Amino acid sequence: MKVLFNGRLMERGECAVDIEDRGYQFGDGVYEVIRIYNGILFTLGEHIARLYKSAAEIGIDLSFSEAELKSQLKELVDINQMRDGGLYLQVTRGKAPRKHQYEAGLTPQVTAYTFPIQKPEKEQQNGVSAITADDMRWLRCDIKSLNLLYNVMIKQKAHEASSFEAILIRDGLVTEGTSSNVYVVKQNVIYTHPVTTLILNGITRMKVLQLCEQNGLNFEEKAVTKDELLDADEVFITSTTAEVIPVTSIDGQTIGSGAPGPLTKNVQTALQNSILSETAKTV
Ligand code: PDD
Repeated sequence: MKVLFNGRLMERGECAVDIEDRGYQFGDGVYEVIRIYNGILFTLGEHIARLYKSAAEIGIDLSFSEAELKSQLKELVDINQMRDGGLYLQVTRGKAPRKHQYEAGLTPQVTAYTFPIQKPEKEQQNGVSAITADDMRWLRCDIKSLNLLYNVMIKQKAHEASSFEAILIRDGLVTEGTSSNVYVVKQNVIYTHPVTTLILNGITRMKVLQLCEQNGLNFEEKAVTKDELLDADEVFITSTTAEVIPVTSIDGQTIGSGAPGPLTKNVQTALQNSILSETAKTV
């Protein structure tokens, strides 16, 4: 398995990240997780655009173009013969003697590697349970930053409660999951938090809302309360790795009928069709 390190393909064991890399010491960097279907990086353009946006928000200037990076990532997928899996891409501010502040002119360090993914088919079909937790993250959740400590703490809490995800609540309103966006269905309308600095604008979220639009499914970008979440007809989450997963119980309380609902299934089918058509090989 090759990895990409600062524009060069090499064996993973040859990739030497410096111990004073600011990503390693401060979480000073940004990242993306991209899904590979049929050897194709799904929604690659959207992920790379978001990476550049996240980098710009924290003042990291990338000296290479989006097109150059995309072609390097495609090369990585090809050389690893990765048909079905994931790609992790990270950009840190660079290496420097450890000080909180930084000087201009650091060279951003870029790493990428591919990894196998087991599609969460059982979860997609049967639904999962979730817990709720206070959203105590910082107020720039729109930046896909390496700083995931609170997400990690709360995801672990969910895991220890045998739940798949923790749904975060800020000021009484549902924001998102620790690593997913959250949707609540009530009376045939799909509600999800609007794009603000309080959530990550998921690429899957953008795709799903586009598909809702195209398929005539009603949605509203409006935050719902925790009570509305628990009283929903259906709840589901989306992410690059999860795709669309129904949430059938929250904090031990059954959601709707307790089984994946019709609108969730419609969204699942629409996304699967879109993945199939966008990753079909053109001969
Ligand atoms: N997480 N919200 C948060 C906080 C996330 O970490 C993620 C994705 C999403 C969904 O975004 P997207 O649809 O672009 O994957 C929403 C990735 C998958 C991760 O950290 O593994």
